[in-house]
Amino acid sequence: MATERTLSIIKPDATKRNLTGKINAKFEDAGLRIVAQKRIHLTPAQAGEFYKVHAERPFYGELCDFMASGPVVVQVLEGEGAIAKNREVMGATNPADAAPGTVRAEFAESVGENSVHGSDAPETAKEEIAYFFAGLELVG
Ligand code: CDP
Ligand code: MG
Repeated sequence: MATERTLSIIKPDATKRNLTGKINAKFEDAGLRIVAQKRIHLTPAQAGEFYKVHAERPFYGELCDFMASGPVVVQVLEGEGAIAKNREVMGATNPADAAPGTVRAEFAESVGENSVHGSDAPETAKEEIAYFFAGLELVG
């Protein structure tokens, strides 16, 4: 499998509870390398643009408000099959369905406030990385 890069976000519920280091340890223990990382506070409009694929879903408004409710840590993870590997480390969207040991099983508070985002495919990873990072900020 090829080396890939994926966009990860540590969401406001997790930064608020000081979980950035614990979540990063799970990524690194799984062999994912954090090649870019910054802490930012999104506006609702910026969150809305990021999640525009979900604009028609009933939870969209709440999701945008939540993502703008506090700081997030946006990061680029690199490794063999990084996109799928990160999704494994994250666990299922709903923490009630997430496998033991995953980030969401251990830390998520609800299906909405579920601690992390991860890209779901190569094209979305590329777009999402470019939304937050310039090429010079990616240090492999
Ligand atoms: O984040 P993931 O790719 O696992 O799930 P998604 O289906 O792409 O949904 C994006 C985000 O919307 C989730 O991570 C949740 O924060 C939120 N969501 C929600 O609030 N209620 C749902 N029923 C589904 C998703
Ligand atoms: Mg998704």
